[in-house]
Amino acid sequence: MIDTHSHINMIEGLTLDEIINNAKANGVDKIIVPSAYPSDIDTVYEIAQKYDNVYGLLGVHPSEVKDWDDNLIEKIRIMADNKKIAGIGEIGLDYYWDKSFNDLQKEVFIKQIKLANKLNLPLSIHDREAHKDTFNILKEHNHGSKVVMHCFSGSVEFARECIKEGWYIALGGVVTFKNAVKMKEVAKDIPLDRLLLETDAPYLTPVPFRGKENQPAYVKYVAEEIAKLRETTFEEIDTVTTQNAERVFNL
Ligand code: NI
Repeated sequence: MIDTHSHINMIEGLTLDEIINNAKANGVDKIIVPSAYPSDIDTVYEIAQKYDNVYGLLGVHPSEVKDWDDNLIEKIRIMADNKKIAGIGEIGLDYYWDKSFNDLQKEVFIKQIKLANKLNLPLSIHDREAHKDTFNILKEHNHGSKVVMHCFSGSVEFARECIKEGWYIALGGVVTFKNAVKMKEVAKDIPLDRLLLETDAPYLTPVPFRGKENQPAYVKYVAEEIAKLRETTFEEIDTVTTQNAERVFNL
């Protein structure tokens, strides 16, 4: 398995060595670590250089764009010229936490899409309660970068719209929650060749560890739940999502 979105630098209860050993022991071959804050960018880069099976994504999360600085474009451009940097992320729109700077969110989102296009790197997209704007901005401004809708939270209909655009859907721990009816429908509906696994650790821990701190090793519970929902084997979900992740992020 590949955990395609995991903030292992934010996990408090384990060291990086412990996180990576637990992941390996649970069948997780590779971990992709996105940056969220401008101050994460160096950390993510360093972790990706240090550990063979860890890859980094560079970018600024929509909730943190007040700290955006246009100099980051040149900084990321230089750092992304490295085989362990697999994409731009996480970037996008978040209207859940704070709607007061939507315009700035959009502006920085577009700048980072253009950067990814120039670098020919895929995008890890954060979209929280901003489906319409996220979709429209990607459709208008993305020219050629592969798109991963990280921690997908839309309806089956929205998932189908994204699939139609050629985008990928990454599902995490939410799909294991008993009351996540919508996400279980999405997990059953999307074509297997567009599905990716993730944890979004340290957040959104899957059942049976819901409420505790998340880690990449727990991505297997996401795969197990999706296999059950799709009435297929764990091995099939493991194999296909791993191939998908390797193709999207060129691992
Ligand atoms: Ni994230």
